[in-house]
Amino acid sequence: MIDTVFVLNGPNLNLLGTREPEIYGSATLADIEAMLQDKARELGLAIDFRQTNHEGVLVDWLHEARATGAKAVLLNAAAYTHTSIALLDAIKAIELPVIEVHLSDPATREPFRHISYVGMAAVAEVKGLGANGYAVALAKAAAL
Ligand code: DQA
Repeated sequence: MIDTVFVLNGPNLNLLGTREPEIYGSATLADIEAMLQDKARELGLAIDFRQTNHEGVLVDWLHEARATGAKAVLLNAAAYTHTSIALLDAIKAIELPVIEVHLSDPATREPFRHISYVGMAAVAEVKGLGANGYAVALAKAAAL
């Protein structure tokens, strides 16, 4: 059976394309999903690509990744990266490899973006590569 990787996107990422394009680029989330579908086919993986603006929904989807036997999770938790102990606990609880993804590099931005609760439990991070970072992260997931 083909392995599935969950690709979970947090708040405001539905606005990609028009949201601060000088920071996040001009690709929409739909563009990123289409690009990643191609990459997944190439790698022999399936992806389940989702976005929500709600923290608890991300927690539920992390639980679902485990319950459905996903191979790994790519997680761009957006601003919740820097605030959410609930996401940290969920990542620890599901015992699945979670790869942290960011379009920008939060470490070079405002100090409040320097802490990453997701990063405390993620197996790898890909940041600062724009939309292509999702493809790089999927290749990492394939190699796990
Ligand atoms: C982001 C970085 C976060 O600091 C920010 O809150 C986002 C997007 C990124 O992909 O660069 O919403 O996760």
